Amino acid sequence: MKLLVVGGGGREHAIIKKLKENRTVEVIYALPGNAGIAADATCVNIGAKDIDGIVKFAVEKKIDYAVVAPDDPLVLGAVDRLNEVGIPCFGPKANAAIIEGSKIFSKNLMKKYGIPTAAYETFEEADKAIAYLDAVDRYPTVIKADGLALGKGVIIAQNREEAVEAVHSMMEDKMFGASGSRVVIEEFLTGPEVSVLAFTDGKTVKPMVSSMDHKRALDNDEGLNTGGMGTVAPNPYYTEDVAALCMETIFLPTIHAMNAEGRTFKGCLYFGLMITQSGPKVIEYNCRFGDPETQVVLPLLKSDLLTVMQATTNGTLAETEVKFSDGAACCVIVASKGYPQKYESGFPLAVPADTDREFSYVAGAKFDAQGQMVSGGGRVVGVTAVREDLSQAVSAAYELVPQVKLENGFYRHDIGKRALAAKKTR
Ligand code: AMP
Ligand code: GLY
Repeated sequence: MKLLVVGGGGREHAIIKKLKENRTVEVIYALPGNAGIAADATCVNIGAKDIDGIVKFAVEKKIDYAVVAPDDPLVLGAVDRLNEVGIPCFGPKANAAIIEGSKIFSKNLMKKYGIPTAAYETFEEADKAIAYLDAVDRYPTVIKADGLALGKGVIIAQNREEAVEAVHSMMEDKMFGASGSRVVIEEFLTGPEVSVLAFTDGKTVKPMVSSMDHKRALDNDEGLNTGGMGTVAPNPYYTEDVAALCMETIFLPTIHAMNAEGRTFKGCLYFGLMITQSGPKVIEYNCRFGDPETQVVLPLLKSDLLTVMQATTNGTLAETEVKFSDGAACCVIVASKGYPQKYESGFPLAVPADTDREFSYVAGAKFDAQGQMVSGGGRVVGVTAVREDLSQAVSAAYELVPQVKLENGFYRHDIGKRALAAKKTR
């Protein structure tokens, strides 16, 4: 099999390492990949949003199967275009990727089909949004840009001043570009958050092991929101009872709702959930694997990833085994100082070698003029350890961190702390 993976972050590195375990895989091209991924795949300098370039390359190389990992190309229709030239893909078509591409779409879908989520209103005009804020007058309140915004389009306003500023900067100053011309204002929910990635072929849903992201840049959930500074799996808040409730009230209803709308979803559907006093609710959907959730979920997957992916494409997921190990995993991200704001790149980078239960997933790296690997992004590398239980996995991951050589690197020291505390009280 000749495979193509679109994307170039830690998530794609984790996908590629897992795909390589399949013996029928002859070559994997990463578009564009990165200097770390280059150890495991053939990287080709075609950007993930260059759909014409991707399709042309895939045809030239006679690709047998393509995995489109990031949100942008999915929303732009990369799967549709690859399918048109006869290349089967893992991932939803554009008309289903909209579940992430438009928060207004996903909120309206949930309302129409009775899927639990925060109460909300949508706005196209700033003055109407502000009038609504004043009518409700309850804080904190949550303001979300409608479109894709690199995971940064959500502002939790603590008071009227912050809320009004958020509305102005999204709708008038266009801080997220066109993504913010429409906004959702929603109720602030509280409770632990759980990420559940699920394979689906549009009929059957097979959830993967649950995980917990750590979105803030600094220890104790301080600092700015990032793409994610670390993850653990499984998530102790995702008990068997919660899982059953999610399947019945969220996962299956979402798949059915998408079918009823003529937008069958195939691929990986990511449920960002909050376990509230009144049950699990959807915070967000993503139309793809999460990053860095994938870096703890895939190392625990026992089944062959390529086989499962193909089953989502062929509609045979019901008959395909999707098994996870009983162990636990922890991933700690090492990022460039300054991330998620301004940071410097180009520092020499070395990462620990993989073992059968320790993995380095390179997220942001390039080669310098001498061909040495140097940092090339905000999030630079994620180190993952797999162990029998969470406490061992967390300790082992933090033993890997000092083996990452990056002069301006920083990381959180408390990945897994909350999950471990939750386990103790159970
Ligand atoms: P999102 O990009 O939609 O996942 O939002 C980013 C983060 O903002 C989430 O992980 C939550 O921590 C928080 N958040 C989003 N929506 C809400 C909400 N309705 N209530 C409380 N927190 C929220
Ligand atoms: N880690 C959250 C995301 O992938 O959107």
